[in-house]
Amino acid sequence: MKKPTLVNHPPETTPPQGNQPVIAPIYQSVKYEFESIDDTLRMLRGETPGYFYMRASNPTTRQLELTLAQLQGRDDCLATASGVNAIAQTLISLTRSGDHILYFIETYGPTRNIIRRLLARFGVEHTMVSIEDLAAIENVLATRPTRLVVFESPTNPITKVADIERIVELAHRHGALAVLDNTFAGFHQHGEYGVDVFVHSLTKYASGTGDVMGGAVIARQELIEGMRADFSVLGALLDPHAAFLIQRGLKTYFVRYREQTRAAMRIAEHLEAHPAVARVHYPGLASHPQADLARKQMRDAGTVVSFDLKNGSEAARRFSESLELFALTASLGSTESLVMPPQLVGSRDFTPEQARQSGIGPGTVRLSIGLEDIDDLIADIDQALG
Ligand SMILES: Cc1ncc(COP(=O)(O)O)c(C=O)c1O
Repeated sequence: MKKPTLVNHPPETTPPQGNQPVIAPIYQSVKYEFESIDDTLRMLRGETPGYFYMRASNPTTRQLELTLAQLQGRDDCLATASGVNAIAQTLISLTRSGDHILYFIETYGPTRNIIRRLLARFGVEHTMVSIEDLAAIENVLATRPTRLVVFESPTNPITKVADIERIVELAHRHGALAVLDNTFAGFHQHGEYGVDVFVHSLTKYASGTGDVMGGAVIARQELIEGMRADFSVLGALLDPHAAFLIQRGLKTYFVRYREQTRAAMRIAEHLEAHPAVARVHYPGLASHPQADLARKQMRDAGTVVSFDLKNGSEAARRFSESLELFALTASLGSTESLVMPPQLVGSRDFTPEQARQSGIGPGTVRLSIGLEDIDDLIADIDQALG
């Protein structure tokens, strides 16, 4: 073998049988070969297990998919390049021209845009109501054949708690599928409800470190099989290196989620007692308008705490810019604390009535609580409120 050949066919160092790595390696290979054409064809026809091309599947991403499916309590999972991609591909795959989607004022902005702009261009229709208005939800479903009900709980940034059992029951009674973006609640919550499809941003709690993007769609086999064919031609399977980092992050998922929730609860209580604060939005607080529903539905109330400052947007701007330990930026669920001021959380596309129903006010600030020392975070909040 000459040297230019050698560098393309390096020596094999695969560990022998009975001597396996404790941590699965990153399978950073686009292609997987078979010994024969017949073996290749058998695998491509689904008669034997295996891998062929990274865009369709790879062992590292597959390990993450199987882990997430079990965490969320469903048959299978498709991992994608981002949370928004998971949502977009799911909605594209599950609808056709003439279908109708019910979604909400409280729905994550980019999801609203996918429904309002992208899918509308392909003839998919939509109705938007408030997640709090069960009568309107029932009325829309009773009067319009609906393919999907797309919702979140808790919602961003006001942490409204959707009545999952009731919404799923209404969706099913009227022949619709219930799609829940479960990013805020995490993989260990809501699995016991009859949600048809869970979508998640893996960019948040899954890795926890805020240095990698990903998304996941988790559902029963029959739905995943239908979506798998569409997803593979849309071509945004999660890259194995990102999958490895997310799988690594998941090891500390439960410890992080619970510890960050504990800190979020203390901060929510602290804010509630502060004279500059008009109102705190956190599902763990007894003052939350759906505290009973939150207690019934959620094991952990989550790590996002929002609140309204009495003195409106200028106070919120000064508060957000005065914080030292909270990064002024997007996202949530990472180990470092983050702040989103009202200038960045509001929606420009709402009518005044929709803006009122959204609950986002001029002084609404969203905090994502990280893993720093709680006393340090509270001291930082106090100095910024001061
Ligand atoms: C509820 C929710 N869903 C989806 C996403 C999108 O995730 P990604 O940033 O991974 O595309 C976000 C991001 O903030 C989110 O908050």
